Amino acid sequence: MLVMQKRNCSWSLIAAVGLVVLLVSLVQFFWLPWKPTLDFFSIKQAQTTCIPLNESSKGTESSLPGLDLACRFPVDLHSAVVYRGAPWKAEIGRWLSGCDSVVKEINVTEKISGKVCKNDCSGQGVCNHELGECRCFHGYSGEQCSETLYLACNYPVMPDLPYGRFVVSICPGQCDTTRAMCFCGEGTKYPYRPVAEHCGFTINASATPPSTAWGKPDLDVFTTNSSLSGWCNVDPEEAYAGKAKFKEECHCKYDGRIGQFCEYPVISTCINQCSSHGYCRGGFCQCHEGWYGADCSIPSVFSSLREWPQWLRPSQINMPGYANAAESINGLGAAVTKRRPLIYVYDLPPEFNSLLLEGRHFKFECVNRLYGEKNATVWTEQLYGAQMAIYESLLASPYRTLNGEEADFFFVPILDSCIITRSDDAPHINLQEYRGIRSSFTLDFYKKAYDHIVEHYPYWERSSGKNHIWILSWDEGACYAPKEIWNSVMFVHWGNTNSKHNHSTTAYWADNWDGISLARRGNHPCFDPSKDLVLPAWKRPDGNFFRAKLWARPRDQRMTLFYFNGNLGSAYDNGRPEATYSMGIRQKLAEEFGSSPDKDGKLGRQHQNDVLVSPLRSENYHEELASSIFCGVLPGDGWSGRMEDSVLQGCIPVIIQDGIFLPFENFLNYESFSVRIGEDEIPNLIKILRGFNETEIEFKLANLQRIWQRFLYRDSVLHEAERQKSAYGRVDDWAAEMLQLTEDDVFATIIQVLHYKLHNDPWRKRVPHIRRDFGLPQECLINS
Ligand SMILES: *[C@@H]1O[C@H](CO)[C@@H](O)[C@H](O)[C@H]1NC(C)=O
Ligand SMILES: *[C@@H]1O[C@H](CO)[C@@H](O)[C@H](O)[C@H]1NC(C)=O
Ligand SMILES: *[C@@H]1O[C@H](CO)[C@@H](O)[C@H](O)[C@H]1NC(C)=O
Ligand SMILES: *[C@@H]1O[C@H](CO)[C@@H](O)[C@H](O)[C@H]1NC(C)=O
Ligand SMILES: *[C@@H]1O[C@H](CO)[C@@H](O)[C@H](O)[C@H]1NC(C)=O
Ligand SMILES: *[C@@H]1O[C@H](CO)[C@@H](O)[C@H](O)[C@H]1NC(C)=O
Ligand SMILES: *[C@@H]1O[C@H](CO)[C@@H](O)[C@H](O)[C@H]1NC(C)=O
Repeated sequence: MLVMQKRNCSWSLIAAVGLVVLLVSLVQFFWLPWKPTLDFFSIKQAQTTCIPLNESSKGTESSLPGLDLACRFPVDLHSAVVYRGAPWKAEIGRWLSGCDSVVKEINVTEKISGKVCKNDCSGQGVCNHELGECRCFHGYSGEQCSETLYLACNYPVMPDLPYGRFVVSICPGQCDTTRAMCFCGEGTKYPYRPVAEHCGFTINASATPPSTAWGKPDLDVFTTNSSLSGWCNVDPEEAYAGKAKFKEECHCKYDGRIGQFCEYPVISTCINQCSSHGYCRGGFCQCHEGWYGADCSIPSVFSSLREWPQWLRPSQINMPGYANAAESINGLGAAVTKRRPLIYVYDLPPEFNSLLLEGRHFKFECVNRLYGEKNATVWTEQLYGAQMAIYESLLASPYRTLNGEEADFFFVPILDSCIITRSDDAPHINLQEYRGIRSSFTLDFYKKAYDHIVEHYPYWERSSGKNHIWILSWDEGACYAPKEIWNSVMFVHWGNTNSKHNHSTTAYWADNWDGISLARRGNHPCFDPSKDLVLPAWKRPDGNFFRAKLWARPRDQRMTLFYFNGNLGSAYDNGRPEATYSMGIRQKLAEEFGSSPDKDGKLGRQHQNDVLVSPLRSENYHEELASSIFCGVLPGDGWSGRMEDSVLQGCIPVIIQDGIFLPFENFLNYESFSVRIGEDEIPNLIKILRGFNETEIEFKLANLQRIWQRFLYRDSVLHEAERQKSAYGRVDDWAAEMLQLTEDDVFATIIQVLHYKLHNDPWRKRVPHIRRDFGLPQECLINS
């Protein structure tokens, strides 16, 4: 198994050999690689039993895979081909039925790296052993993380502003200048208690609404006089017992602690919670010796083989031979069996991920979970949480590879929802040079990540970035992706092809990208259905939701014909004033079908009893969706989570937004479970919906019941459930309910889509054929 050449070896190679010899005997204890669940069925046999209807179509065309697949997997009445319960667009469903279902495991050699970092990153960072480059903790920088940064909480002092102009990190207490976060500091009873935002400044209660005087510090927060409202010296027990007063505006806003006074330590949110190979220091994974990656999931030659993650469990360890010793002297190969598509996940510098998590001033910002009492998982309502879910699923996935040479796709993980929620959080994260425009600021983050991967890795150029995947989860999606990355696959929530809405449609000025120069943005649409993918928004996993089974509510309990509840614009009290809000679509709907009185007391022109279009926030929103046959899917400021709400409540989505794609819409056959109405057809909406007969309605409802799980991030949620189970033996209700589900979820759907793209993307036909083992029969391959 080990063939060593007698050559001069570097010390690291010798170390690696020692490690391998030591651990080779452990190989037999490894878990067996996962077994295929679907038997490979004989294509030959299928071919002979499938007699083409049209003899003349034989001959030249019969060598095309499509023909055989078309014959074996006919379309249904809605032109869909069903695969694993979901109706797909015919071509896609056929390929998946014939090919994805039979993909076999292949042998892949995973690269286990062992490059070392200078001075071990001075103990102030994690060594990326693939590049031999340090990833420094918050507040440290330099090649060896030996430089200490000074990240101020405050802007420079001005005559009437002793703490500078307002910024979220503004601090009259002690600034932790490694993170720009504000604490009570030395000399107080609770030096590590945060003094976040309003807390340290005088509140003007006589203003309506009460406002904060950012130029006037409230020195009482440091008081020791228990009859004054203090904060930094207030004993929690006494405060709870009513024996000491505290300032109500002060809260525990930073991650890692809970209780009114931040008195209980809890786990912070880290990517995959550091995969049990590291300590989560406020959002940044401080990996154990020998482990690295944003979630400490990557072993190096210095880590014990016994602890390698499941997706890397090898069958065999190979020492590099002499031929490519120069390249692989710093690592070793582990033979692993896997199924394609294989995805390489870049381990970007922490400015794109971990540092954004660590410096959060409000713990709810940009994460899909936090930790509460007894370190139990607290799922958030953040619609943008999908970004964390996908990133974590990919990092822990059996489709992940560490070998870029074998990879079919390259994922570039940037937490843009963190960048955006944190823009202008602290002087070192500021929008000054972007004149407050978050879209422009974010574009540069992506450009910097592009520069990084082009400079450090050889993979981009090989496909001009076409096999790279970027995720842009904010309201305007990839509208402001820098022009350099537009060739790539964009994972977004906003599928605007710009065929009708051809400029920035957000009514929120800071996200508007119309002013970004062509030199930076290029002239691309927001979404290109031939390469990109819209992903469902994050919806909180909630035990009650699963028990209520609203997605399965039958037809006879759905009495409302059409339902839409949400902001309807300026005609209503508290409505969004901008005419551009919702691109004017919700306003048009309300004019026709509004079912509650507007500011003038008027209802919609065509108001009907079984049509509910209302801006009044409903207490029973989910119940009302589940009591309806059709539900409106209209944009807000860009996308809104209406498609998800509708599907998860089993209500047939009625999509009204021209030229804008919804989750998986370029892959699934939407006609099988939804209705699309042109914006110009809004006046005829109800006439059109009444035109669907019961058979058609039942058909769509039945399909929704089959696909609703494809709108759930179950994979990522179950990873969290496993972590909770192994750490605390806890199985919370959300975990128990999720475990009952068996249909394909968002992540499974993404993998199916990528597998299809790997063998059907037209650009791959034009690049020189790479002889690789794809684990598929010839007829499934693009170049066959
Ligand atoms: C047979 O297939 C060919 C090519 O697809 C088509 O042009 C022709 O009309 C078909 N004939 C019949 C009888 O369906
Ligand atoms: C994978 O490797 C194993 C062990 O070396 C070998 O028996 C098997 O044939 C290989 N499979 C493929 C598909 O090459
Ligand atoms: C408080 O607000 C009121 C009403 O806006 C204003 O008149 C007053 O000057 C403010 N006081 C301080 C101290 O800022
Ligand atoms: C505490 O504050 C109250 C209210 O302002 C004041 O009457 C009292 O004298 C203070 N006590 C001390 C010890 O300073
Ligand atoms: C929760 O986690 C924190 C941080 O790791 C730890 O200090 C604390 O003891 C834990 N609490 C419980 C109840 O396990
Ligand atoms: C958008 O489309 C409209 C109508 O097709 C056209 O008049 C306008 O010039 C387009 N704007 C941009 C920025 O392409
Ligand atoms: C229902 O509508 C569909 C589609 O328009 C049509 O094909 C079908 O025949 C109709 N069924 C009944 C029972 O009317």
